[in-house]
Amino acid sequence: MKVATTIAETRAALRELPRPHGLVPTMGYLHEGHLSLARQARKENASVSASIFVNPTQFGPSEDFTTYPRDEERDLALLEEAGTDLVYMPPVEVVYPPGFDTYVTVGALTEPLEGAARPGHFRGVATVVAKLLNVLQPDRAYFGQKDAQQALVIAKMASDLDFPVEVVVMPTIREPDGLALSSRNVYLSPAERKAALALSRALQTAERLYAAGERDASRLREAMSSILAAEPLAQPEYVSVADNRTLLELETIAGPALASLAVRIGRTRLIDNVVLGASRQG
Ligand code: PAJ
Repeated sequence: MKVATTIAETRAALRELPRPHGLVPTMGYLHEGHLSLARQARKENASVSASIFVNPTQFGPSEDFTTYPRDEERDLALLEEAGTDLVYMPPVEVVYPPGFDTYVTVGALTEPLEGAARPGHFRGVATVVAKLLNVLQPDRAYFGQKDAQQALVIAKMASDLDFPVEVVVMPTIREPDGLALSSRNVYLSPAERKAALALSRALQTAERLYAAGERDASRLREAMSSILAAEPLAQPEYVSVADNRTLLELETIAGPALASLAVRIGRTRLIDNVVLGASRQG
């Protein structure tokens, strides 16, 4: 496995790798969610790269950029084990040299949910992913359904800007008790870790009601909100049942819907979602 920190080194390494090539973009501190993407990339491509870059432009001023967990040695060992050929791990100055002044903004899909709660977040995500796609030129790029809006925004950007890449979205990997894996779970105290189960519990309730025939989206939002309200350590930011393609809030569920949540558990902000009414659920 080659580890490259500059664009020139990365391009030189890529020239030696067979196609099709799959890319797994990450911010590191890897867990089974990330590794499931790397393994799928390994299955579907002749070569695989991953990037590890904690992207400053997608963090707000009061967010956790400086404290975001990092463990490069462990990440590299895990990526090697998953069959990765190349890791692009640039320092911030390589991605954003002095004077950097070009950004990618995706439209309506970035307005609700995470976009409303985290102004500028998707501008940072779209910009860095565009740059990663340009440096690594993958045939396929792998993203997790855990960040459902992010996956939609990236697919939209790739399509609108004619990136010759297939965006592949893989299901959310969970702990046995239901908690979605996240690098940020490391911030949770034992009591918060228990409280964090309110997210998956709320989403499971939405799934159950949907399966029993409930199609009134506000009933699902209310059911999820009341489960979150019963958990004293949980402070909901949003509780949404939206169209799974446009992310606009629904009154009645007719096609595939995305039930999604952002909840603060103490100082830690967690997100999770399920798709209602689709054959493959995340
Ligand atoms: P990061 O949070 O490190 O996540 C990297 C990829 O792993 C994303 O596509 C994310 O959706 C996926 N992922 C995270 N938790 C998952 C889980 N429990 N199950 C399945 N997939 C999971 O998302 C980012 O980094 C950044 O925004 C990035 C796209 C790298 C741009 O900076």
